[in-house]
Amino acid sequence: MRNIIVHPGAKNLVYEIREIVAIAQKIQKMGVPIIWENIGDPVEKGEKVPDWIKQYIVGAVSENKTYRYSPSKGLQDAREYIAYERNIEGGIQITPDDILFFNGLGDAISMVYRNLNRKTRIMGPNPAYPTHSSAEAAHSDAPYITYALNPYNGWQPDLNEIEQKIKAHPEISGILIINPDNPTGFVYEVHVMKKIVDLARKYNLFIISDEIYSNLTYGDIEYKKLAAIIEDVPAIGMRGISKEFPWPGARCGWIEFYNRDKDRDFKDYTQALINSKMLEVCSTTLPQSVIPTVMGDPRYYPYVAQRCKDYKRRAEIASDLFSKIPELIVNMPHGAFYMSVIFKDGVLTDKQRLPIENEEVRGFFKETIEKEKILDRRFTYSLLASTGICVVPLMSGFNSTYYGFRFTLLEPDESKFIKIIETICRSIKEYISS
Ligand SMILES: Cc1ncc(COP(=O)(O)O)c(C=O)c1O
Repeated sequence: MRNIIVHPGAKNLVYEIREIVAIAQKIQKMGVPIIWENIGDPVEKGEKVPDWIKQYIVGAVSENKTYRYSPSKGLQDAREYIAYERNIEGGIQITPDDILFFNGLGDAISMVYRNLNRKTRIMGPNPAYPTHSSAEAAHSDAPYITYALNPYNGWQPDLNEIEQKIKAHPEISGILIINPDNPTGFVYEVHVMKKIVDLARKYNLFIISDEIYSNLTYGDIEYKKLAAIIEDVPAIGMRGISKEFPWPGARCGWIEFYNRDKDRDFKDYTQALINSKMLEVCSTTLPQSVIPTVMGDPRYYPYVAQRCKDYKRRAEIASDLFSKIPELIVNMPHGAFYMSVIFKDGVLTDKQRLPIENEEVRGFFKETIEKEKILDRRFTYSLLASTGICVVPLMSGFNSTYYGFRFTLLEPDESKFIKIIETICRSIKEYISS
């Protein structure tokens, strides 16, 4: 090209959760059955969408109006329903005009960062969910600024660190929380959220709260959405149906604006988001059209609650099994359907290995594993080659300071789930003592 056509931040767009799939598929072709523990898609893992939800969708598909464009902000009925649900929960009150639909929350996330002034930064948690961290780093062409979720303290963030970073980086204009968090399953306690809101108020920042898992909580910690405690601070809440219905293939998520009128800049920024969506015309109509009927059905919340019970049970099983390995840091998740396990400092080396039975796989991985410098990625490649279990390394996959890996709590067959966790545990012991 006669000019450089690549965006300077493009190198920051990485999504290891899916990149590892290409490697796993190669060894699948070599005859190794793969156990996909990398992607948070409940349907792919075998969860059945209830027939009554499907019936609402079938009904919508049969109606001619479902094939229309929808308004740029989203269908009025869907936005009215979401605003109604939000408002009866207490806290900040919103109108349908404060809601903007997207083609999945991933779409919302990239638009939120793309529309920020290039010099403005959003600080987010570490480990970091890569759709946020990559989009933020790509927007600013600079490394992601993070605050640590501390695995040695139940994944609690350090509020002093957050304040020090805000002071040290005047370019920070917003704080991201993912609540419940991906990849840790951590849930922010209400008093911690209140302190983060106080910091935002003190330093004139706004907050983004990714709440795609907000109805999937199951721990002993009281869960509150940001809207319940935000008071007068400008903020964006993010939600969607990918994990809840679950219908990830629908590509349907939305953002909620809180306190748009409290700050002129924030109002202009939210208007830029609305205008950007207008340029795209609108988001997918079909999933929006069933939101009021599905979520308003009396079976909806009991159904979601039952799934949470299942996740809790699997989280307890996994926590028990991993806790028996003293070289690991294990925290029971309180929401979402992931769990992250950390290797204590000094446990991993670049000499460890696992037996690889399949000769072709052994040949394929020899160089890949030997050359790999990131020690948790080396472990996850070894686990994949040896057992076919595909998990995601934390350091490279989630921008983490600690070595570890994330797996899902989605396997519906309990005996299979236990077998998977037992196999990972056995492999860890063998790997670290090799
Ligand atoms: C925290 C978080 N936010 C957003 C998304 C993207 O969701 P969607 O399917 O709506 O694009 C995911 C998907 O895994 C997620 O874990």
